Amino acid sequence: MVGILKKKRSPLVVFGTGLLLVMTASADNRVPWAEVTTALGATGELPSGRLGKRALFSLNDTGEALFEAQFTPLDGAGRPNATQAIIPTKSRRPREHALFRTSGPDATACVSCHNQPVVGGASDFVTNVFVSEGFNQADFDSIDPQFSNERGSNHLMGAGLIELLAREMSAELASIRSQALMDARDANTAVRRALTTKGVAFGYITVFADGLADLSEVDGVDPDLVVRPFSQKGVITSLRQFTINAMNHHHGMQAQERFGLAVTGSDDFDEDGYRNELTPADVSALVAWQATLEPPIQELPMDEAWVAAAQRGGQAIADYGCVECHRAALPLESLDFHDPGPLDLVGTLSVADVAEPAIYDLSLMYWSDTLPRNEDGHVMVPLFGDLKRHSMTDRKNNQLGNEQLSQRFVDRTRFMTAELWGVGSTSPYGHRNDYVSLIEVILAHGGDAKASRDAFAAVGKEAQLDVVAFLKTLKIEP
Ligand code: HEC
Ligand code: HEC
Repeated sequence: MVGILKKKRSPLVVFGTGLLLVMTASADNRVPWAEVTTALGATGELPSGRLGKRALFSLNDTGEALFEAQFTPLDGAGRPNATQAIIPTKSRRPREHALFRTSGPDATACVSCHNQPVVGGASDFVTNVFVSEGFNQADFDSIDPQFSNERGSNHLMGAGLIELLAREMSAELASIRSQALMDARDANTAVRRALTTKGVAFGYITVFADGLADLSEVDGVDPDLVVRPFSQKGVITSLRQFTINAMNHHHGMQAQERFGLAVTGSDDFDEDGYRNELTPADVSALVAWQATLEPPIQELPMDEAWVAAAQRGGQAIADYGCVECHRAALPLESLDFHDPGPLDLVGTLSVADVAEPAIYDLSLMYWSDTLPRNEDGHVMVPLFGDLKRHSMTDRKNNQLGNEQLSQRFVDRTRFMTAELWGVGSTSPYGHRNDYVSLIEVILAHGGDAKASRDAFAAVGKEAQLDVVAFLKTLKIEP
């Protein structure tokens, strides 16, 4: 019996001849009440090339089913001998509990935390996650901030557009760097260039004639100039990378492309008796569904007084300087979402691993026509963000400085500008989801946002409420 169970989650069978045979999960001999997730393995082949509408929608259906599935031990959920760490790490001793709030697995389904007001949305404080990527012990049973950073669940609506913006910004920053390298070599002198892309300024790079670079003036982005749009810290590159992290962290479902034989030397790294718990095709379905999620919109209420207040508030956020970080919209050139993407490297399937990446054309989605375009025909993505990290604390306003661990070498007080689209549907607020009112979280801003926060603090309650009236029109469509 154990042999059969082991076989169920091994859709990739490698024969001695090098022949790859892809078997979809053997659904035929499963009864509907078998406590297994039938969507696993439903995407038999890795999607490749440009998908038509039908193929994309069908892939999305599988992705949604996987996002909503409550994974069971018969799917391979749980990780008795591995930790939540992003880099495959064995636990020191077998875990005592299948589910464990602090270090995970902490939920049975993605949708358990991303559900307000729709599947893929955000959630309340109760679904906070304890993020501790470098920590290599199996369990930490304390929520003390010396062990982990506590983060609130944010929403994934419009995530494909966000990743596409970040890819284009990363490409432009890389091209500024290579142009600077060439110019410095040609002119045999140091050159200093502004790292500005889509109007967002990431400081300066100085390159010397010998090709060495001074990165000390780079601001709000990693030294490799890759804009990482996901997590509130801005440290995760792609939906693919996030999905694989989340599957292991929250559910103990391990993706073959990170934990499989080719990478770790074991096809059952967590030693739960199940091999290749998530195939690359399963991950692709989840990515496709997230990448095509409808972006939030501005929805004006029927109440005329509210509309008037929202108009005043929308104007005022420019006056207070909020839009220096919360940019109303950023221009996006292409709606083609490649998966794996150009920046998927170690720990995820990469372009080099596949014959051809899949291309999901976001203009096939019914919502794409509603997005405004600029005079160049570029889609204006109304994110109210800049995909840049900013320092959020100073001596006087230190409330958002509640983390003790730096994540991926980013200073503890720096966070990526929260995209405000959808904020009218996602209370509570802040990276720890611990501000119940919008006014509170705005007044908690400090650091780089000090001048803006002070301008907001200086106006009367009524003017402050205008901003709230505006923010509450930025909705996730139920
Ligand atoms: C226990 C709650 C919980 C579960 C379960 C969960 N998430 Fe999340 N999710 C979070 C939290 C908290 C964050 C914010 C993390 C941070 O900022 O560091 C997040 C962030 C994300 C993001 C990044 C969004 C952004 O804009 O930064 C993605 C993508 C995501 N989750 C996908 C998933 C997927 C896919 C699953 C299922 C495999 C999943 N999540 C399961 C709580 C959860
Ligand atoms: C210097 C950049 C910057 C400026 C200026 C700025 N913000 Fe922010 N804002 C951020 C960052 C970064 C976060 C995420 C902070 C955190 O959670 O740690 C944020 C978070 C928020 C949130 C919470 C969003 C959520 O989903 O939890 C709101 C609301 C907000 N800002 C509104 C404003 C308003 C209104 C102004 C102007 C008065 C403003 N911000 C000025 C950078 C800025």
